[in-house]
Amino acid sequence: MYPEYKLADSPTQRVGSDFSDEKLQKRFLPHKHKVRLYSLDNTYSYDELAVWYEKIIKNYTSEPPQLVCELKIDGLAISLTYLNSKFDTGVTRGDGFVGENITENLKTIKTIPQKLKSVVKELEVRGEIFMPKTSFEKLNKKQLETGGKLFANPRNAASGSLRQLDSKITAERDLSMFSYYGRLDSNEFDIKSHSEMLSFLKNEGFNVNPNYKVCKNIQEAVEYCKYWDKERQNLDYATDGVVIKIDNFALQSEIGYTSRAPKWATAFKFPPEEVSTVVKDIEVNVGRSGAVTPVAILDPVYVSGSTVQRATLHNFDEIKRLGINIGDRVLIKKAAEIIPKVICVTEHSKGAPSPFVAPEFCPSCGTKLVPVEGEVNLYCPNHLGCPEQVKARLEYWVSKDCMDIDGLGDNIVAQLVDKGMVETPADLYKLTVEDFLKLDLIAEKSAQNLYTVIQNSKKPPLARFINALGIRHVGKETSELIAQKFGSFEALKNATFEQIQEIDGIGDKIALSVLDFFSNSFNNIVLKNLDLYGVKPQETQITETSVLFSGLTFVITGTLSDARDKFEQLIKQNGGKTSSSVSKKTSYVLAGENPGSKYTKAESLGVKIINEAQFNEMLET
Ligand code: IVH
Repeated sequence: MYPEYKLADSPTQRVGSDFSDEKLQKRFLPHKHKVRLYSLDNTYSYDELAVWYEKIIKNYTSEPPQLVCELKIDGLAISLTYLNSKFDTGVTRGDGFVGENITENLKTIKTIPQKLKSVVKELEVRGEIFMPKTSFEKLNKKQLETGGKLFANPRNAASGSLRQLDSKITAERDLSMFSYYGRLDSNEFDIKSHSEMLSFLKNEGFNVNPNYKVCKNIQEAVEYCKYWDKERQNLDYATDGVVIKIDNFALQSEIGYTSRAPKWATAFKFPPEEVSTVVKDIEVNVGRSGAVTPVAILDPVYVSGSTVQRATLHNFDEIKRLGINIGDRVLIKKAAEIIPKVICVTEHSKGAPSPFVAPEFCPSCGTKLVPVEGEVNLYCPNHLGCPEQVKARLEYWVSKDCMDIDGLGDNIVAQLVDKGMVETPADLYKLTVEDFLKLDLIAEKSAQNLYTVIQNSKKPPLARFINALGIRHVGKETSELIAQKFGSFEALKNATFEQIQEIDGIGDKIALSVLDFFSNSFNNIVLKNLDLYGVKPQETQITETSVLFSGLTFVITGTLSDARDKFEQLIKQNGGKTSSSVSKKTSYVLAGENPGSKYTKAESLGVKIINEAQFNEMLET
């Protein structure tokens, strides 16, 4: 069982985006864009930016062309059409060709003018809808108080608010728009460049971000990027990069487009945000395997899309390496943009307490901690009696990729353990409605619901059940491989070392760990009790795997005609592997609509990119 870091106070635990709500999606009418909304190609370094600019000079101009730099707003792209100076239709970007008509909701946004100042026959304006960071914080606070859904970041909050069926709710949310593109059907205003267009839009009443800059050359653009990389944390809206555009329209037309993005523009993506804050405390957590990990409790700060209050310190060696102590000022960032991490100490606290030392005893149960050979972590060996470990294992048991018992949150798990009502996962299944009523803040209806969700969760797919057991080194993917090989839990229990180890992708270490798990007498008691209470995983149909994709690694990006899971399954069934990031080792990138940065990365590495039709052809051969 791996120690895991959990963002106990992270809003992501309760997040939902209205975008994924199918019922809502169906209610907005599709609308075909008159002119396609292209995507943008990304650049990640100043060198790459220079290459982009040099290529334009080499192929299209003799003089270094003028540029416009704008902040790339992290919101939702929309297109507004004005007919005879009046706001007519507002549509989401969708796949760039067809979006959804959300006119009524957009009418509630104050920074979208209902009427233009000049007489204009037809104008299309594009821009980004966003929610200011402070309004996002306020909204989440309100949602928390009223028991509503929390949003992970301002972008999700903006998207959720825009997609309300009731425009009155949208009107209550503080949404705004920055306009960054205009297209007139005739040239009565004689606008020859992007910067002139931005001035025109401003005069007509649109909200143009004042932080754009006309740059004479790429050096000035690089200065702009450097400035905003530092300064962006002081803005009240989220930005993830800079969009650099060739200013002159005639030159833009000459340079043209690739199949998905203009060649006359590029998005420079900021490196992960590093934000300064103060360590208020260092807490010691005990994970489900007994691993003891230090966590920095921070003065809340906003970083890369959400408010962060905790950051992992990994282990006690890391504390020494960083020289970190309570009261210190530190820089933090989200590693891979998800889990917050302390990068370094920038200022030690004055009159700091004595250096932080690793505890000798478990903070949860007081047992003496032990080192494990070859590992940096300390462990609490009191596997069965340590309340924190018991809680962590139960939290894992109920989670989505395991038994998926929705509604049984950390708070309820903690109460069940603290009141001595539950010690092992099997105990969950003998709880009655009356038992739940003994917990704090649980009313009759919730007690009934909790009882029902637990009883309804007794027949999970085999892979999720295996995952839930928390066998050391066996996570979601490995559980799937094991389920696929053995088909039933009975067969797995009787499996030999050789049988487990011969699964492609599973080695000695995992095979031994599985055998270890089944030879542990306590585990067998829990398994027996689970069986007695009727927890019986469904059998998995063993499908013959073909060798069609053997040795091939696929990365999927963009929207395909069906859920990504389906495609991943097809790849695996045919002996291939999937990965979430593109590298030189990637065999194919399967790209759907709206592909992300993986597409550009594949292009730059020369990795083969295929679409869904080509993928299906490969399957048919
Ligand atoms: S210009 C043809 N300017 O970035 C050029 N886009 O990754 C079209 N975005 O879908 C885009 N801020 O949603 C442009 N100042 C800005 C932007 C911006 C944010 C978004 C937009 C687009 C996405 C492309």
